[in-house]
Amino acid sequence: MSGVLNVTDLKTGYGKQEIVHGISITAQPGHITCVFGPNGSGKSTVIKGIAGLLPPWAGKITLGDADLTGLPVHEMVRKGIVMMPQGGGVFPRFSVMENLRMGGYSLKDTREVDDRIETLIADYPNLQRRRNVAAGSLSGGEQMMVAIARALVPNPAFVMLDEPSAGLSPALVNETMDRVLALRERGVGVIMIEQNIREALPVADSVYIFAGGKNKFSGTRDDIRSDEHLMSIYMGGTVSE
Ligand SMILES: Nc1ncnc2c1ncn2[C@@H]1O[C@H](COP(=O)(O)OP(=O)(O)OP(=O)(O)O)[C@@H](O)[C@H]1O
Ligand SMILES: [Mg+2]
Repeated sequence: MSGVLNVTDLKTGYGKQEIVHGISITAQPGHITCVFGPNGSGKSTVIKGIAGLLPPWAGKITLGDADLTGLPVHEMVRKGIVMMPQGGGVFPRFSVMENLRMGGYSLKDTREVDDRIETLIADYPNLQRRRNVAAGSLSGGEQMMVAIARALVPNPAFVMLDEPSAGLSPALVNETMDRVLALRERGVGVIMIEQNIREALPVADSVYIFAGGKNKFSGTRDDIRSDEHLMSIYMGGTVSE
């Protein structure tokens, strides 16, 4: 199943505290949709809401013609929507392979999951070599690669990446962005939260800025580049080519 992922007027939060006050996003299949915004603006909370980790308090989530509002995580995964949490969320005591297998936990066909993992890991020689070591003994960058690969195990239509380049060296940030571009080439839709705006903006097909749990901007990368006010308020200055 695929189609456009539409999030309309989503409200959600923690306990009784509403954090996301009616946010809307449209993500095209096979496009890279980037989400920027200050710390604490609700970026992670929004994608947790879309992924089914937090229940929607109001609003609607649709994929193509299908209404996915309120489905729990494992159902969302089956519908093709997967997230990589902020920090990766790799289990340090489990091996690389065990971490990757967790990415397929909601799928019934374990043979297909194993095949998927072999295909994915072939793209990551460092992980291939260390498939049986504890994930916690890998470098931060390698752990992030495990997290990204794990999110891809269910063969998602849309993958949501929460700051995939956080804490990585400049070379690894570039590699991460190249891998995100490769996903687009394969037709996977990407929703990417990033702080590395300079590196993320060039790969973005469309851009959202959140502030205070609300939409502040949506448009193309060129729209945002030409809006100096937005650049200075939400992005700490001008971004050069
Ligand atoms: N598990 C939680 N329980 C209670 N409040 C939370 C929880 N997680 C986040 N919050 C609060 O929700 C607000 C938005 O947090 P969120 O993590 O969505 O922000 P963010 O835009 O992703 O920020 P950052 O750029 O720092 O990752 C913050 O005020 C935060 O304190
Ligand atoms: Mg966050």
